Amino acid sequence: MSGNAAPTLETARVVSQEALTEDTMSLWLEVSFVPKARPGQFVSFYLDDPSRLLPRPISICDFERRLSLLRFVYRIAGEGTRQLSLLRTGDSVRVMGPLGNGYPMEEMAGKRVLLIGGGLGIPPMLGCLTDAYREPCDRESFRLPPKAVNAALGYRSAPFMLSDFSEKTHVYLATEDGSAGVKGNVLTAIREEMAPSDLIFACGPKRMLAAVASYAAERCIPCYVSLEERMACGVGACLGCVAKTKSEDPHYHVPYRRVCTDGPVFYAPDVDFS
Ligand SMILES: Cc1cc2nc3c(=O)[nH]c(=O)nc-3n(C[C@H](O)[C@H](O)[C@H](O)COP(=O)(O)OP(=O)(O)OC[C@H]3O[C@@H](n4cnc5c(N)ncnc54)[C@H](O)[C@@H]3O)c2cc1C
Ligand code: FES
Repeated sequence: MSGNAAPTLETARVVSQEALTEDTMSLWLEVSFVPKARPGQFVSFYLDDPSRLLPRPISICDFERRLSLLRFVYRIAGEGTRQLSLLRTGDSVRVMGPLGNGYPMEEMAGKRVLLIGGGLGIPPMLGCLTDAYREPCDRESFRLPPKAVNAALGYRSAPFMLSDFSEKTHVYLATEDGSAGVKGNVLTAIREEMAPSDLIFACGPKRMLAAVASYAAERCIPCYVSLEERMACGVGACLGCVAKTKSEDPHYHVPYRRVCTDGPVFYAPDVDFS
């Protein structure tokens, strides 16, 4: 995966915010750094609350590149995200981004790609789908389009964002309570419908990612997973977000990597899920 572009700290304008479920919000922001943002990267949100100085990291969910807009879909998990949920059209919020490495979109060229998302790991998969067929803007970024891009989405119960995907591609759908799609998890849906793929990008709970990684390894399918760890600085300075890897970090010589700067996207065979 290529080096991370330098992040920008700026005050962004809220274009819109709506509730998708009782605790899941969809937020569109106008920011200057859209051209350098890639699917799988994230943005740090700074709150106007002196008791919450650490930023809240949220993955980029989708792009409206011509209008310089980024979309974020997040769950109200605690006080920070509750404060974010109060933002309305025209409000402003301090953000820094894009952060992290993002998915290796260039590997999609000519492949049948399967995007696998579970729960709040679903939003970043939409950005991958949007950008998969993006026109190259200069010669350097020229690449062949993928052969096909399908999505496998797993939810606990009622799906959200489903039409965002189903309007653009085929969706293998699973819910744990059986209220929509196949009863079970994303792998149940993939196995039942025998989803073909030459490349997998995944995001979701660690247990799901471990299962996806072994599914891919059994079939020799290259697979990239986006990990989530609690973060503090978000820019590689505090080592508060490390994940265990099978190879050593070339600088610190320990089998750990910083999720905020070395990730959040990792080549699945290099992640130690134990
Ligand atoms: C790279 C990255 C991308 C993320 N993208 C998204 C996203 O697209 N959508 C989304 O809904 N959430 C995402 N998160 C999680 C999000 O950052 C946290 O839910 C948020 O920071 C919680 O802040 P809070 O002040 O509302 O809650 P807090 O009061 O800080 O915490 C509330 C609860 O959430 C848990 N929590 C807080 N941070 C994390 C975390 N990083 N991972 C797991 N549990 C956490 C806490 O343990 C606690 O139980 C992402 C996290 C990372 C690291
Ligand atoms: S959050 Fe500080 S190094 Fe990653």
